[in-house]
Amino acid sequence: MESIQAIKQRFGIIGNDAKLNRSIEKAIQVAPTDISILVTGESGVGKESIPKIIHQLSHRKHGKYIAVNCGAIPEGTIDSELFGHEKGAFTGATQTRSGYFEVADGGTIFLDEVGELPLTTQVRLLRVLENGEFIKVGSSKVQKTDVRIVAATNVNMFEAIKKEKFREDLYYRLSTIEINLPALRERKDDIHLLFRKFASDFALKYKMPTVKLADDAIQLLMSYRWNGNIRQLRNVAEQVSVLEHNRSISGQTLKNYLPTGAGQNLPAVINDTKSESDFSNEREILYKVLFDMKSDLNDLKKLTMELMKSGNISEVEKDNEGLIQKIYGNNEEKTVQDVPVLAIPEHREDIVEPVIEAEDKYHFAEEIEEEETLSLHDKELELIKKSLERHSGKRKLAAAELGISERTLYRKIKQYDL
Ligand SMILES: Nc1ncnc2c1ncn2[C@@H]1O[C@H](COP(=O)(O)OP(=O)(O)OP(=O)(O)O)[C@@H](O)[C@H]1O
Ligand SMILES: [Mg+2]
Repeated sequence: MESIQAIKQRFGIIGNDAKLNRSIEKAIQVAPTDISILVTGESGVGKESIPKIIHQLSHRKHGKYIAVNCGAIPEGTIDSELFGHEKGAFTGATQTRSGYFEVADGGTIFLDEVGELPLTTQVRLLRVLENGEFIKVGSSKVQKTDVRIVAATNVNMFEAIKKEKFREDLYYRLSTIEINLPALRERKDDIHLLFRKFASDFALKYKMPTVKLADDAIQLLMSYRWNGNIRQLRNVAEQVSVLEHNRSISGQTLKNYLPTGAGQNLPAVINDTKSESDFSNEREILYKVLFDMKSDLNDLKKLTMELMKSGNISEVEKDNEGLIQKIYGNNEEKTVQDVPVLAIPEHREDIVEPVIEAEDKYHFAEEIEEEETLSLHDKELELIKKSLERHSGKRKLAAAELGISERTLYRKIKQYDL
């Protein structure tokens, strides 16, 4: 059996922390079995290495390894992606397609962000776990597959179960053995080691001498919270390596690169020249309004689709209570019966009301169109980046701030390759 050290080297894992070693050891131990594994740990702790280790050290290593980010696939296509579909199963299904569970027969599937799976998909997944059976979307034929499943999550699954977002039976099936990766703040002795490794990688990449930390800077690294864990540490190492002329980094200098978590709701732009910062804040508000409008429009589209499909207003109303409340607020008189009219312009006013004075609103919208259309894409990217930075990579908080769903944020992160 390969030693833990050899495995770490092979998979580029840095650190000597006892908890980290225990997790890797567990991965090595379970690899030869077919037991389902749930990898847990905060965002950025390195969960993605574990399923790779498990696959490579198993008898399946010559089979396929497929990593699926469950949060990044739109809800409408996820069943088809995972289990495939029959020709004609839905509009656009011009051909029969194999899903990942068919393709990965004999191999391993890594279900990342498994807590994001829609409930209907969870039912299908449970069946695969129980007896290796699945059915393509639009088919009635039961197929068999032999796939090892490793799942990962950075959310509290018990809370998801309590909120009925995740099936308890599936949770227990998936997490026969749990491998938890420690947060960076729990492995303080590894922090400086990791920083040195990243700093030396970036020095090589950017052809500059390696930055070196003064003692007070090392102390600062070790006492920082690192909500975004190793991903955040690597980002800080990159920024410092690229931006600092002086290669010797003091604590005072390093401080500038470490956002303080408490001020999560403060404006991200803290500028010396007041007028400029006011301007950016105003812009931020405007883009936030645009985000909100877009998100509501998407919700409305979804509602309309469901209405068209089902034709049963009260049923749709019952199934989409949360969504309707989100779009219309708590006003009990407004029900889905109002929806077919799709009073978007009228509704748009509702949405922008708190921010922009009534008579200005279309004027504003036009101005944005004229001046910013070309860079809207850049602005969206910029806002997402800013928000993620402000929340140390925590997508849940960033999504809430941006007023979009977590799923939409995942897709944007993927789309912009963030
Ligand atoms: N021990 C480590 N040594 C070196 N690099 C690491 C280590 N752990 C994580 N990394 C790096 O940190 C980054 C984040 O790791 P990874 O993508 O596995 O995080 P994650 O736990 O899956 O986070 P999320 O829940 O946000 O998806 C990756 O680039 C990874 O290579
Ligand atoms: Mg991940």
